[in-house]
Amino acid sequence: MQATNKMYLNKYRTIDSAKENELEGIREKVIEDKEYRPSYHIYPKTGLLNDPNGLVFDGEKYHIFYQWYPFDSIHGMKHWQHLTTKDFLKFKEEKTIVPKETFETHGCYSGGGVVIGDSIYCFYTGNTRQNEDYKRVSYQNIAVIDKNTSEISSKYCIATTPNGFTEQFRDPKPWIQNEEIKFICAAQRKNETGTAAIFTYDDKNKTSKYIGELEVENVNNEDVFMWECPDLFSIDNNDVFLWCPQGIKPINNRFQNIYSSTYAIGTLKGNKFNTHNWDEIDRGFDFYAPQTIMHTSNDEIILIGWIGLPGSEYPADTNKWQGALSLPRVLSVVNHKLYQKPHRNIYKLIDESKKEMLTSGLTEIKNTIVRSYLKADIENKEFEINLFTRDDSKLSLIYKKGCFILDRSNTLQTKFMKQYGDYRRIEINQLDNIEIFIDNSIIEIYINNGEYVLTSRFFIENKNKLVEIQGDINLIMYEMKGIKLWEE
Ligand code: FRU
Repeated sequence: MQATNKMYLNKYRTIDSAKENELEGIREKVIEDKEYRPSYHIYPKTGLLNDPNGLVFDGEKYHIFYQWYPFDSIHGMKHWQHLTTKDFLKFKEEKTIVPKETFETHGCYSGGGVVIGDSIYCFYTGNTRQNEDYKRVSYQNIAVIDKNTSEISSKYCIATTPNGFTEQFRDPKPWIQNEEIKFICAAQRKNETGTAAIFTYDDKNKTSKYIGELEVENVNNEDVFMWECPDLFSIDNNDVFLWCPQGIKPINNRFQNIYSSTYAIGTLKGNKFNTHNWDEIDRGFDFYAPQTIMHTSNDEIILIGWIGLPGSEYPADTNKWQGALSLPRVLSVVNHKLYQKPHRNIYKLIDESKKEMLTSGLTEIKNTIVRSYLKADIENKEFEINLFTRDDSKLSLIYKKGCFILDRSNTLQTKFMKQYGDYRRIEINQLDNIEIFIDNSIIEIYINNGEYVLTSRFFIENKNKLVEIQGDINLIMYEMKGIKLWEE
């Protein structure tokens, strides 16, 4: 099962092949980036981070894995980097899941986890490329890891692609229903349309059985050639399905990014998902592949997304890191709409001693803006907020004529970023309140208590401390503390 296409060989190396001091050298380069590297979002120690994976709560702590290529800010051999946390504020680095087997020669791709006894069963896709023609073959696998030591006790394949689908078949997300383990995979039908496939898993015999497609009704699947990262769960009697349909054309102000993440809220009967409401999960420039953690003790469902997009390139890539995870968000459903609120512990990062009140006009901030939290009651008044404003650059948030706009036209952008437009717009009849989290090159905006969220990267060099407000609104601004992530 040897890859023969020489072009790809360099980026298909595992962390075990790191030369002496190689990763330390890359880390130094990452640390040199003082301008864009986040301080309270999870970002990779080195290299590229994409999808969150295997998110579980083991009764004591949360396990957060993510797709990781350690050596550069490009997509290469995917590992599962593993962190644990009790509070989303302090993180411990655990053992990485490294691709080593014949059923994962070209990476451990995305998937989810379930806790069974003292183990976490990490369901993932083994990506392989086979023979002269470098043909993709996908395996659905399990890595059983000890929840305390993160030691892998076994790894095995449980499914190959059923008939009727292409080898674009991946991202198994498991759950337990009536004591039965089920999992759902993202898939492409032979006619090149996107869908998802459900399986049951028999742990005793380590075998799985394909049940059928998830039939999601009343959603737009036109032009959609592939789905990625499915996730199925319920909140307060509402069934919720999350997935990333690839290929949707923009619909008015929606689906403006290369690919989007969507949700359907409705009722699941057998394999039929009757949709009451279908929408984009996040309306910002950079958000993809979210996954939920089921918090078993109080039924809370927490979502974490990748702040990034497939194929995207950013100005900070030269410092050999790319990608971050969104703040953990608690989900709820109101009138068939998905609401997202930052997890309460995130508010513990607010430094109450560093508070400033901003009113209309130009204000020079005393504290730090690059690591800050802003909030305002808007009462549906029109406004424009220009952050880091100067002649040639600023990041703007505007609310005019019932439309909220995030404008990054006056920031640094790569060709890739430019291709998908300078503005993200949301029509909002009544804008009551806004919360803004700024973290060096990341902005997360929560509108109307989480009715709308916009997550984006933005790049401004030598950021100043100026905030300009037009309109009759007052902003309260606090400095934020950093999380404890990588030791420096
Ligand atoms: C989504 C995705 C998944 C895949 C993984 C590979 O971003 O393409 O479908 O498993 O990334 O890193």
